[in-house]
Amino acid sequence: MNDNQFATTLMVIMGVLIALTVFLIVIANVLMPRTDFSGDSLVQGSVEERIKPIGALAIAGVTPVNASEGGSDTNLAANDAAASKSPADLYTACAACHDSGVLNAPKLGDKAGWSARLGKGAEALYSGAINGIGAMPAKGGRADYSDDDIKAVVDYMLESVQ
Ligand code: HEC
Repeated sequence: MNDNQFATTLMVIMGVLIALTVFLIVIANVLMPRTDFSGDSLVQGSVEERIKPIGALAIAGVTPVNASEGGSDTNLAANDAAASKSPADLYTACAACHDSGVLNAPKLGDKAGWSARLGKGAEALYSGAINGIGAMPAKGGRADYSDDDIKAVVDYMLESVQ
């Protein structure tokens, strides 16, 4: 095979490969199944089922969030349960940080720890607790608590340092 023949053969092979690539791209686009399922509630549900957290926090007497199918209903049940609990009960979700003062969380009943924050006024403290502040996640990680639940617990915390 001389150089000319080699070059021709090479061009032919490359031409065939390029044609094959284009062909595969076209075929893939034609055959590709739908990937946008955002409007499909059945698919959405099964995806949420597959990616839900493995565990759910279970507190005696409270329906765990994510415990069973139909998440939104269970969430509503959890909300109802939260709504019927006293601020002291609700505070148990905050105690992990606010009893120990971990991450510099202001401690329950610790006047010195709260003194710098009290000047902000209750509304600012509510909003810090609801939206998260510093190392504290929004609502202390309890998305199932309503804003009013959080306000009630903040009032409870503030009463402890009156
Ligand atoms: C993961 C730990 C953690 C949990 C759980 C947690 N907090 Fe906090 N919280 C913090 C930390 C840390 C701060 C201080 C943040 C800062 O000022 O940087 C804080 C600050 C606050 C403040 C003061 C906000 C301000 O504006 O100064 C309030 C009010 C508060 N938390 C309420 C709550 C309530 C109510 C709950 C339960 C629903 C809760 N926290 C759960 C860690 C936590």
